[in-house]
Amino acid sequence: MNKRFHINTMGCQMNAYDSDFLAQSLIKNGFSPEKEPSRADVILINTCAVRAKPEQKACSFLGRMADLKEKNPELVVGMVGCLAQMKGKEMMKRFPLLDFIMGPRELGRIFETVQRIFDERQRILATELSVEPAPAVKCAGYFQDQTSGFISIMEGCNNFCSYCIVPHVRGREYFRAPKDILDEARHLLKEGIREITLLGQNVNSYVWKDQNKWNFASLLNALSAFDNLHRLRFTTSHPKDLSDDLLECFVSIDKLAAHIHLPFQAGSNRILKLMRRGYTREEYFELTRKLRNAKEDIAITSDVMVGFPGETEEDFQLTLDLLQAVEFDSLFSFKYSDREGTPAAGMSDKVREEIKIERLQRLQKLQNRITLKKNRELEGRQLTVLVEGTSKKGGQLTGRIASNKVVNFDGDAQMVGKLVEVVIKESYLNSLKGEAIR
Ligand code: 5AD
Ligand code: SF4
Repeated sequence: MNKRFHINTMGCQMNAYDSDFLAQSLIKNGFSPEKEPSRADVILINTCAVRAKPEQKACSFLGRMADLKEKNPELVVGMVGCLAQMKGKEMMKRFPLLDFIMGPRELGRIFETVQRIFDERQRILATELSVEPAPAVKCAGYFQDQTSGFISIMEGCNNFCSYCIVPHVRGREYFRAPKDILDEARHLLKEGIREITLLGQNVNSYVWKDQNKWNFASLLNALSAFDNLHRLRFTTSHPKDLSDDLLECFVSIDKLAAHIHLPFQAGSNRILKLMRRGYTREEYFELTRKLRNAKEDIAITSDVMVGFPGETEEDFQLTLDLLQAVEFDSLFSFKYSDREGTPAAGMSDKVREEIKIERLQRLQKLQNRITLKKNRELEGRQLTVLVEGTSKKGGQLTGRIASNKVVNFDGDAQMVGKLVEVVIKESYLNSLKGEAIR
């Protein structure tokens, strides 16, 4: 009988990419996707471990699934991803409904694992970190409704920032071969994808050697040569590895979107040092200056944390000051949370929760003003939108401009997947309203 699977995906774009990998692996083996968990034969939860919040979300989802498992003991429930890697054993103990645990490096064995559980009904824990990530599964038709797709170019991270769990759960850096990346791009384009985002915890450290010597810039150049690719993006960059080669790409590669996500994390040099980030605020300023020199209207977005151990009001003021000086187009901001096993978790001088909440609110209020101001500067300008589909509120088309901002406008369905010239009429905090030029 045809078995159905449901995947609940939490966390970052890398997890979204991994969930697509899992789905395609199962579809290739005769399974079909199911939106409603209660109708599924297999439920997978793809988890994030980067902060305490996604961990709580994962646990409450599993709590809700317990009823389903009770009603249907044949149901297979698996936890995959970063939290599975970090706390696999503990999760197995805490949630008897879990049939298996699988870390991010083991996903290539998904079908075999699910099949074994159906056959043998044994619990499985697979959290090996030294395995090479599996090659992409290319399932025809899977991306038929999508304009934008991801390709992972690397796994893991070697940086060991003092707060970060990623190197512990995704292992050391592992790069994918340029040939595999280009093949995957060819496949996505054949499937109708027109925008590709290259993914990695630190894409700028990409290197490969075959007949040629590859770095991240040469990879971008090679990908930009595909005719039916409209736009190329990447995430995430580490400020300490941003090369002049990459700056040059923003000038020379038309398809490379004028946007960079460049997490700064904190504005105080003392905190940056405790975080082991490897740059100072002055160096960060210099980078943003170089980026804007290379590409005048490049959008710069970032990640920041408040309440890192030992962060004083003065340190926090330096973060606010950096926000004002750089004027990010948008910002992801988080309260620091301890991640077991990282050096920061063992630091003294923890910041109280109320203070973290209060700092986050002040920071977000300031950033909202900046975001709105930057969005309003676009009013009256003609910009190119890659149309992704119809907007949630109905009627209108929705897409993104190069800077990754969402634009909604009236148009017809034939425009989906195409580049359309639009004049920005009105700007809001999270989106822009445009008018297509006929
Ligand atoms: N606590 C809070 N936020 C964190 N991030 C990473 N680790 C932690 C942590 N321990 C944030 C960083 C990173 C983003 C993905 O999550 O800002 O860039
Ligand atoms: Fe993504 Fe990091 Fe969360 Fe893993 S821990 S899902 S890599 S953000």
